[in-house]
Amino acid sequence: VIPLEDLFPLEDYRFHLTIRKGDLREFFAPSDDRARVLAERRHWLQAEPEQYAALLPDGERLLAEWAAMVAAWSEGEAVRSVQQLGAQLEPDFLLLSQSPGGEFLLQGGAVVFPSSWSLPEKLGRTLDAIHDVVPGLNAALAPAISTFLTRLRPGGPAYLRSNWGLAATDALNLHPSRPRPALRPKLQPEQIWVRVEHQILVAMPETKGIVFGIRVVVHPLTEVLQSDRLRAGFNRAIKTMPPALAHYKGLSPVDRELVEWSRP
Ligand code: HEM
Repeated sequence: VIPLEDLFPLEDYRFHLTIRKGDLREFFAPSDDRARVLAERRHWLQAEPEQYAALLPDGERLLAEWAAMVAAWSEGEAVRSVQQLGAQLEPDFLLLSQSPGGEFLLQGGAVVFPSSWSLPEKLGRTLDAIHDVVPGLNAALAPAISTFLTRLRPGGPAYLRSNWGLAATDALNLHPSRPRPALRPKLQPEQIWVRVEHQILVAMPETKGIVFGIRVVVHPLTEVLQSDRLRAGFNRAIKTMPPALAHYKGLSPVDRELVEWSRP
């Protein structure tokens, strides 16, 4: 996985692709927390199956190939629905296809631990349309993302990257339909968590569909503040993040506190 130091470089905030080769099977392998994570995933997938997993008809071939790949790791039988696969794997997964015009389309997946977005709302949309809500992202990176995904070799290596955000809860499921505490002034650092999304991207050999895996790891903000190096990188990121992006990420109400706490 990408270390926290790479998420908080000693430079002004900017969007970056920053990918490195990774191992697909290792990414989806059981963690020490497996029982707890899978129990929570099963809970949400049973309570609201359509909210947390979805598949378009054009995604069925992608799901079949992805389920077969997962089954081969454990020499088990391939499951048939996104709900079943979402309950078997600890990370979330998304399946994308490329249209003849070259656009990437979201065909389905299981997203039980979303960072404030809802899978059914994004289903069938292009990646650029999905990213449109992130201020400045497409302007900075859409062509680079598209080139990177187009060049992924079917059956070739997987690539890792990560994103981070902050939340006033360590809950894994931050679906927009769920109540949650807001980031607001007067919170203490102990009441804030850094939410890291470890991501993996790979193109499947047969359908050439793209699998996008997301594993959320939640760190106490105090962990970042306790390290001089991370503290400096975090301070720099908060200070230099464009206000529209800080607003999108929900950080604006606490930006002064964050800068103060992380002052080198
Ligand atoms: C390959 C390179 C990619 C890069 C560099 C990238 C980058 C980003 C960034 C920077 C954000 C904003 C997160 C934040 O700061 O809080 C974001 C959001 C998001 N990305 Fe990506 N992304 C990539 C691929 C994908 C793929 C393949 C999907 C699959 C559908 C995807 C779906 C999303 C979604 C759903 C959001 C949240 C949008 C919302 O808040 O409604 N991204 N992405």
